[in-house]
Amino acid sequence: MSSHNEQQETWPEQRPGRKEMSRRQFLTYTLGGATAFMGAGAILPMVRFAVDPILHKKGEGDFIKVAEVAKITDQPQEFTFELKQQDGWYASTASLIAWIRKDESGEIYALSPICKHLGCTVGWNSNKDHPDEYHCPCHGARYTKLGKNLSVAPKPLDQYKTKIENGWVYLGDITPNTEANKEA
Ligand code: FES
Repeated sequence: MSSHNEQQETWPEQRPGRKEMSRRQFLTYTLGGATAFMGAGAILPMVRFAVDPILHKKGEGDFIKVAEVAKITDQPQEFTFELKQQDGWYASTASLIAWIRKDESGEIYALSPICKHLGCTVGWNSNKDHPDEYHCPCHGARYTKLGKNLSVAPKPLDQYKTKIENGWVYLGDITPNTEANKEA
């Protein structure tokens, strides 16, 4: 009798306890899984939205039509052109300058006007004391026709990658000057 009574006392305590635990776990997992699923559904589009500009290429390697080949002479000429930029979600248009000339063999070169000292804009033949040179008005840097640095600036002017197509000069990325070292 006493053992039957003990069983009766202990059973009700144990069985609901086990059932309750199991149901709680089941509900926890189910609700947790559903919440995670819904959370992922809400967050993933936001993540996609945030990284989307990074997934798109910035247009590196693109070329822009700048000048007619027929207009290029052995004297550097200034050409301005526009570059459309995408910085994250911010789209803008930058106005750029190139000094374009051709050499004796007809090869076309385009120099960046950004002074390699502190970034001012150089001009061709703008200093009467030093004709046929690029001159920077900020601190007096001077460069040869090929962009070789003569004073103040530590490096030659950079050059644009160029491409000739259907009678037009196309300009691409700015790269270190390879032509300047040809000068003695
Ligand atoms: S920025 Fe050109 S000389 Fe200083």
